[in-house]
Amino acid sequence: MTNVVFWWSSESFWKKTAIWVTAFMFIVLIVLTLDSLPKISVGSEHVPAYSVINHRIGYEFDKTRNIQAPVIGPEAPLFGKKLSEKDAEALVTHGKKVIQGRNCMGCHTLLGNGSYFAPDLTKSWLDPGWGSEGIREELMLDFLLNPTDNARSFGSDRTMPNLHLTEREAKAVIAYLKWMSSIDTNGFPYNFPVIEQEALQ
Ligand code: HEC
Repeated sequence: MTNVVFWWSSESFWKKTAIWVTAFMFIVLIVLTLDSLPKISVGSEHVPAYSVINHRIGYEFDKTRNIQAPVIGPEAPLFGKKLSEKDAEALVTHGKKVIQGRNCMGCHTLLGNGSYFAPDLTKSWLDPGWGSEGIREELMLDFLLNPTDNARSFGSDRTMPNLHLTEREAKAVIAYLKWMSSIDTNGFPYNFPVIEQEALQ
């Protein structure tokens, strides 16, 4: 008796299907990437230029959009030093590399990526726990240089280990956190509708 192999159960059919599906999804990925790039590039509508770290960042209810959103305020240079766009980019990029190099994402979440062991860092610059505007950056610096002695923990018993950052690295990390807090993350992916919110007044 000869073995009847239907076309849909043949090995060559499934091999071809695998190749076509992979190729198609690769094209979809390229299209989605090209579509998102203008929305996520620095200096675009939702992602401010790096020199935003020279300004106060607030988080306020936007009545027209019916949503909480970052507000870029008057000048308030980080550590009292106003930086050019180029120097601000270099500092924020250094901060990003420190964060990647020390794998902060192993415990924290940044812009939706990472873990849930520790607080989400996307808006940690805006955390009211840092106290008033003036002392925020100093408190953050003290914390990052010695997170065990300056633990905040919020009753969770979770303490951040001392990662022995240098002062330069910690300041760059703070610049990155300040810049990241200014990103308007509402409505991303941008072509998905935003969920209605109650006014928080
Ligand atoms: C082993 C896990 C772990 C790693 C790795 C880690 N952290 Fe943390 N981090 C924590 C925990 C737990 C807390 C909360 C405890 C606290 O605030 O005292 C915290 C708190 C923080 C806070 C305060 C957040 C807020 O708004 O209250 C900042 C900022 C922070 N970490 C930055 C970093 C950075 C930057 C890195 C990488 C250089 C890093 N962390 C790596 C565990 C970690």
